[in-house]
Amino acid sequence: MAKMHITTTINGEPTEFLCEPYETMLDVLRDNLGMTGSKEGCGSGDCGACSVTLDDRLVCSCLMLAAEAEGHEIRTIEGMSEGEALHPLQQKFLETAALQCGICTPGVLVAADALLKKNPNPSETEVRYWLAGNLCRCTGYDKIVRAVLETAADLRGAAE
Ligand code: FES
Ligand code: FES
Repeated sequence: MAKMHITTTINGEPTEFLCEPYETMLDVLRDNLGMTGSKEGCGSGDCGACSVTLDDRLVCSCLMLAAEAEGHEIRTIEGMSEGEALHPLQQKFLETAALQCGICTPGVLVAADALLKKNPNPSETEVRYWLAGNLCRCTGYDKIVRAVLETAADLRGAAE
């Protein structure tokens, strides 16, 4: 089968790649483009470890065909820090030990960032609902939720 030539934008960089029509975005990110931050926990849309944004919409990259990236903008965990400077969410997760094995962490961070862009002042319930699609078998979620709420408060404080 002929490979497809896809032109897209990933983390702000114009990007081209070849893929099979049936390949997922997650597989292309990890196997073709060397972006292994997005994880495969389930491959069926249940765990959120593969979360990326497609034109600012949160999606499971394991459920998205790579060909669907054509003409769109993808953001992954690799685009979250600014060079060496961690994103405030990343920094807070480190400071508050909101991760253990780290497998869920890239997806949680991408999802949390999408939430704070939409809603800079979420309630605890809103954070818990938003992150309900991101499964973590280590932390018990509480530290994750606290870290997101604290980051939101810090960012609001910085904006005042
Ligand atoms: S690997 Fe995509 S949702 Fe689990
Ligand atoms: S830190 Fe291990 S799955 Fe979340």
